[in-house]
This record gives sequence, C-alpha cells and structure tokens, in this order.
Amino acid sequence: MTEMVISPYHPWLAPLSGFSDLPFRLVCRRQGCSVAVTEMVSAKGLFYNFDNTMKYLETTEQDSPLIVQLFGEDHKCIGNAVSILQKKGYKYFDLNAGCPVKKVTKTGGGAALLKDLKRLKSILMSMIDAAGENRVGVKIRLGWNKETPVYLQIGEMASKLNIAWIGFHPRYAKQGFSGKAKWECIKKLKENTDVPVIASGDIFSAEDALNCISKTNADSVMFARGALKNPLVFKEYKMLLKRCSMLNVQDLIVKEEKQDEINYRLLKIDVIKTHIELIKKYGRDKNPIFRLRGILARYLRGFNRSKFYREMAVKVNSWEDVNRLLQRVEEDVL
Ligand SMILES: Cc1cc2nc3c(=O)[nH]c(=O)nc-3n(C[C@H](O)[C@H](O)[C@H](O)COP(=O)(O)O)c2cc1C
Repeated sequence: MTEMVISPYHPWLAPLSGFSDLPFRLVCRRQGCSVAVTEMVSAKGLFYNFDNTMKYLETTEQDSPLIVQLFGEDHKCIGNAVSILQKKGYKYFDLNAGCPVKKVTKTGGGAALLKDLKRLKSILMSMIDAAGENRVGVKIRLGWNKETPVYLQIGEMASKLNIAWIGFHPRYAKQGFSGKAKWECIKKLKENTDVPVIASGDIFSAEDALNCISKTNADSVMFARGALKNPLVFKEYKMLLKRCSMLNVQDLIVKEEKQDEINYRLLKIDVIKTHIELIKKYGRDKNPIFRLRGILARYLRGFNRSKFYREMAVKVNSWEDVNRLLQRVEEDVL
C-alpha cells in the first residue's frame, strides 16, 4: 500500500484536462478531497516546452498528496519525465491509458495503450524505475472497443509490476462517455487483482459513491464531472461515510436526505467565492474572467432563477460584474 495516497474510501479528485488546475484542486481539498490528480500532462512537452508545461503542474503545500498524470507513448521519454519531476519534488505519478481523444491516441498514447499492452508494460516499468515502488499508478478503461476488453489482463500485469493503484473508468475508449459505466466490471477487476482500485464513472453524488463501493468493493472513488458541478460532493461523501461508519459499508443501501436548502445554497456560494479567490491568487489564465464564466454557470445550476443567473454568468466581463452577480444570487437565497 502507498503511504498516504491509498487510504480506504478516501475520495479522489479525478484528472480533468482543462479543469483540475491548482485553484480547483484547492477548492476540492477544502471540501474534503483526500487525493488529487493533475490534468494530464504531455511527457514530451516536458522536453520541448518545459516552462509552459510546468505551468500545468503548479502546486502548493496544501495541495498534497498530489498525483501528476502523464501521457505519452515512449517509455524512455515518460521515464525521463518522471525523473525530472521527481527532482522537482513531485512524488506520485499516474499513466494516462484511458484518454480517447484523437490528438493523444494518434501517436499511440492515452487509450491507444489499451491496444498495445507490451508498450503499456514497458512504460509502467520505466516509470517505476524512475519513481520507485508505490509511487506509480495507471488510469484505464475497459479496453479500446467492446471486442477487446483488456482490463483484467491489465489488472494481472499491475499486480506483477507492483503498481500502486488502478484508476478505472469502466467504459470502452470508443464509447467516449456514452452508455452507462459498467460498475460490474469494477467488481470483476477487484476480484482479479490485489492492486487497489479507485472507481470512476457516473459517480456524481455522495450516494453514488457509496453505492459504487458497496456494489464493487472498490478501494475508493474519484469524483470527476460530479466535482466540477459541485465540489461540496466531497464533504457530503465524507459526512455520509462517517454516518455509516458503524455499519458495514458492504451492506449499505444509501439514501441521504438533503440538508436544509438555504444553508446548502449559502455553502455553495462560499465555494464559489473561495474558487474566485484562489483563481485570483494562483490562476494562470491570461483572462481569468473567461474561465470564470464557465465555472459560475456550472455552479449556479440548481439555484432559484438559475437560468437567469447562468445567462448573466456567461456574460460577466469584470470582477465587478462577478461581485454584482453573486450579491444578487445571495440576496435571492436569503
Ligand atoms: C472535462 C474532462 C476532462 C478529463 N480529463 C481527463 C484526463 O486528463 N485524464 C484522465 O485520465 N481522465 C480524464 N477525464 C476522465 C475523468 O477522469 C473520469 O474518469 C470520467 O469523467 C468518468 O467519471 P464521471 O462519470 O464521474 O465524470 C476527463 C473527463 C472530463 C469530463
């Protein structure tokens, strides 16, 4: 077991390209996220465009434990990237073997590794050589397409290589996000490997997370789209976990009553304000207001007059506009 990184049931923030930057990771950590993964970073980028690539890996003391997710297709290049990052103080590394985006797969990286397990193995070995034991994990899907499920083979390989965790999103690469995540395959993977499995896929709420664990026996879960919509999901999950800790988590059928709506919305407004402060402090966008438009529109779902406020959100042009919008939302809640 990895010190700190794998603690049973402790929730992870999934890697989210374009979203899981330092401000968002810190927002999630303040709500109870235990382990966060960076956006995927190109191993090649660390060679050819070092300064720019390192901007994706900015971190602070509070942003720990942090896992750097790398993508690429060349074992030497990825091994070297791990060595460079380790010298800079990063400790944990994840290999992206699940991204179905053409830009990544066309050179053999991301989910294309599911079609070439020899290559996958050699990359993982060179990462472990560079990082040491208990420092390297892999994020996978079921396989490239439904004719070629390889997750059980990867589970076996991961056991032999002493991989520290498998992040598992049980859809085929070709599926993208269509259909439902096949949680039953998480259960099968757990039965076939002794490597800790972190479940991913359609885990949008605290209840989903506990249901997934109880159905699959996964070691923990990662929140992805659920966290993007509402970072409070980490707090809700931990509260639910605490409440259920006297029960056997395997036997849970979870139904949680929502907290009082007003308090809940005020908490959400606090999250929004925190995110804004962290963007001001650590954001790396040339125009942070543009990024905020999307963030506000996501967070303001579910509020009274949400359509009206979300339309305002996508038009904000200045910090004053942002403050005015939040003040109106808050007045509406109270
Ligand atoms: C916007 C977005 C960006 C993502 N970026 C990455 C990534 O960089 N690396 C990765 O392994 N998975 C990435 N994923 C996949 C998620 O980590 C996660 O496995 C997937 O969204 C399923 O979880 P969910 O149904 O709870 O959203 C991304 C997903 C989304 C929606």
